[in-house]
Amino acid sequence: MSSNLKGLVLAGGAGTRLRPITHTSAKQLVPVANKPVLFYGLEALRDAGIRQVGIITGDTGDEIREAVGDGSALGLEVTFIPQSAPLGLAHAVLTAEDFLGDDPFVMYLGDNLLRDGITALVEEFRASGPDATILLQKVPDPGSYGVAVLDGDRVVSLEEKPAHPQSDLALVGVYMFTPSIVAAAKAIQPSARGELEITDAIQHLIGAGMRVEAHVVTGWWKDTGRVEDMLEANRLVLDVIEPRVDGEVIDSDIEGRVIIEAGARLVRSHVRGPAIIGSGAVVEDSYIGPYSSISSDCVVRHAEIEHSILLERVHVEDLDARVEGSLIGRDVTISRTDAKPRAYRFVLGDSSVIGLT
Ligand code: TTP
Repeated sequence: MSSNLKGLVLAGGAGTRLRPITHTSAKQLVPVANKPVLFYGLEALRDAGIRQVGIITGDTGDEIREAVGDGSALGLEVTFIPQSAPLGLAHAVLTAEDFLGDDPFVMYLGDNLLRDGITALVEEFRASGPDATILLQKVPDPGSYGVAVLDGDRVVSLEEKPAHPQSDLALVGVYMFTPSIVAAAKAIQPSARGELEITDAIQHLIGAGMRVEAHVVTGWWKDTGRVEDMLEANRLVLDVIEPRVDGEVIDSDIEGRVIIEAGARLVRSHVRGPAIIGSGAVVEDSYIGPYSSISSDCVVRHAEIEHSILLERVHVEDLDARVEGSLIGRDVTISRTDAKPRAYRFVLGDSSVIGLT
């Protein structure tokens, strides 16, 4: 097989399940342990020896471009490929046809995280030379995913979100393809939901007698398309961080795996890890509990936060109850005031969710 294996990262899409964050921002840039989800995928490709990566972008293309730059900071050569509309994963492949040329490639969904990366899988793909390799994982609710039926490690059939799943093996968001997938994507029709489905394109390869192999992934895999998945990914990544305290710690206690970045300030507070507090953040008279990621330049005063992700410049002040299980977008302020009449005062974007005690 050609040694010029490329990467194709999908960072467009609609992100409807992660509103309101995705009204203003790319879901692939939501930080997990203070690093955008997308960067974990880019690093996994780099670690597998891939240099040339195309990134499919949608409405949030400018933001993605700004965050990734030319990719050199990550050791990659990045080409941005705007997609006209989120018309499906196979449509994204067609959009990238010129970039892909005649090379094999790894397609990586930009909101997916794999604990063990893809290096071993890429080596196996290079060595065994099938027409395509898909990654699978057993899930309790296969009806929510694309699922595959296997015969040994050969794929017999695929179905997208089946009403009556014939297997509990879900497709993980990483695929290895030869250029044959482009012809398959051209041959299929949009599905009932109006998308060109990658599962249909792969099924087309199987129908044409091509060799499609499957590999069951054993380490954890997370698709961060929903808030609870994003929080779970944050939990899994924080569980293995290397603790380090580079910021200022005054009259405070730190327990367990905790990163305090340089320029962060912790005053009369208690941090129980796993947790990370970003540069320029100020935490005063507060408790930061397990599985919290506090991004740079946040301010937390007289508050308690646990199992949550705060994006940049969030202010949380003077709360009576603990904030938990929350994903809070950039520049949000949550505070208590003594202003009369005593009332809740909200300025919320579309699709915001508030839970009061
Ligand atoms: P999905 O999460 O399946 O779709 P979505 O982003 O449109 O989200 P939702 O279902 O909540 O509306 O997409 C997986 C990844 O692929 C994600 O990073 C977005 C990206 N994508 C594209 O780049 N182009 C597309 O046409 C589609 C459908 C997804």
